[in-house]
Amino acid sequence: MQEILEQLKKMRERAHMGGGKQRIDTQHQKGKLTARERLAVLLDEGSFEEWDTYVEHRCRDFGMDKQKVPGDGVVTGYGTINGRLVFVFSQDFTVFGGSLSESHAEKISKIMDKAISVGAPVIGINDSGGARIQEGIASLAGYAEVFQRNVLASGVVPQISLIMGPCAGGAVYSPAMTDFILMVKDTSYMFVTGPDVVRTVTHEKVTHEELGGAKTHTSRSSVADLAFDNDIDALLHTRRLMDFLPTSNRHAPPRRASHDDPDRADMSLDNLIPDDPQKPYDMNELIHKVIDDDDFFEIQPSFARNIIIGFARMEGMPVGIVANQPMVLAGCLDIDSSRKASRFVRFCDCFNIPILTFVDVPGFLPGTQQEYGGIIKHGAKLLFAYCEATVPKVTVITRKAYGGAYDVMSSKHLRGDVNFAWPSAEIAVMGPKGAVEIIFRKDAHDPQLLEQRTEEYRQRFANPFIAGHRGFIDDVIMPHATRKRLCRSLVMLRDKKLTNPWKKHDNIPL
Ligand code: HXC
Repeated sequence: MQEILEQLKKMRERAHMGGGKQRIDTQHQKGKLTARERLAVLLDEGSFEEWDTYVEHRCRDFGMDKQKVPGDGVVTGYGTINGRLVFVFSQDFTVFGGSLSESHAEKISKIMDKAISVGAPVIGINDSGGARIQEGIASLAGYAEVFQRNVLASGVVPQISLIMGPCAGGAVYSPAMTDFILMVKDTSYMFVTGPDVVRTVTHEKVTHEELGGAKTHTSRSSVADLAFDNDIDALLHTRRLMDFLPTSNRHAPPRRASHDDPDRADMSLDNLIPDDPQKPYDMNELIHKVIDDDDFFEIQPSFARNIIIGFARMEGMPVGIVANQPMVLAGCLDIDSSRKASRFVRFCDCFNIPILTFVDVPGFLPGTQQEYGGIIKHGAKLLFAYCEATVPKVTVITRKAYGGAYDVMSSKHLRGDVNFAWPSAEIAVMGPKGAVEIIFRKDAHDPQLLEQRTEEYRQRFANPFIAGHRGFIDDVIMPHATRKRLCRSLVMLRDKKLTNPWKKHDNIPL
């Protein structure tokens, strides 16, 4: 028996060495952790249960039958993050460049199947040269098996992708179908075709980093949500992100004891809105002052900065926050911000996370670029997302809520549960100047008269009370009491039940 135990120990040691010391050293020299080191940072200490340590590939071509490494380039299993179950896979670049073989794909598929059935998130660490070239079509089949599971898991369990090395070709489509993508600056990249192919086909000269690095994907393409300086930073933030998410759509979001007084008033909020309606202010200030303990996990902070999205807690309960940012493009909705926010609203709705919306929106961004780019369809995504969402929806209009954008931003008419306005709110079909220029066009020759009419319009319409008279606003609240009013609303809504009519699935304007 002792001999068998020794044998097992040796086999484990061999698996743990992956592609060998030299390749591990190379990985470290690049500033990257190994697959197992990454899991050690991601998961609670000692919680990792590894599966399929001894799985090997079945390829016989190109002398592969003589090159076998137990585990076949991916470490899989489950563990916990702050005590809550997660399934994980971590590709091992030291073994055949982390490339995906049929067996490697089977290992990933196995943990995904289990995650779906028990209701626990899947966190995938990607560091791979793509399809195992020696295996050809078997590898492509493996990718497709994973893609299929990504889709079945979508909306059932949260899926998080960490990109910590190469992720190219069709391999990008698995992370692309997960809920969040986190990248590491300078050591990770994602693209469908690499710089060499790009140069041949389009004659563009571009580096790996420019084409598909963390900065590109978090600020230009919006493929990725967050960029970090190194592996450890990315892994620790993944732990933090997980703390806001339920383990599945069958579970409630994780409640945490909160020591932040729900009645806490913040008098400085009474001065947040500038006297001049054209002047911007920072919506982040409002968010940070009303949430628990100033703890905001922002998603996509470098993309479409005219809208802010992220997770926070109110009285210990996770909430998703969507907020127009008047500091950027005056908080207008455009193609990028509509896409960014709609996907986030849908994520929250999938996973029973209440949505808090802060509104200061002068409308949709005008221009040929927006129209030709399809703002109609993209803006409709956000409208659609809010309309279909059945989670608690609480809205605060701080200043402008004009036109179609008023409707879109979680208005009462889209089954908004509680809709508040600050006294500074201006809820109208459009801003005073634009409105007067249209309805009093005949007076355009007389700027003084026009100014007088604008002022009349402002007095009459640029306030929250007309909407209040109709019940479209539940109350006009004091800015300093915003946290208290939001906390009470969210507690009141805790057991909200609302269902949409049965359907196979909806047809959101993609
Ligand atoms: C088998 C691979 C491999 C692959 C890398 N390796 N990619 N083995 N299949 N796809 C091996 C190398 O042979 C090498 O083995 C080790 O991994 C490390 O690779 P290096 O090239 O030395 O590393 P580096 O210089 O860091 O370059 C990394 C790389 C490069 C940029 C990823 O390896 C590369 O370009 N690989 C090929 C990428 C590719 O074309 N993949 C197929 C794409 S098609 P040794 O033994 O020397 O350590 C695809 C389709 C998916 O993925 C479709 C899904 C639908």
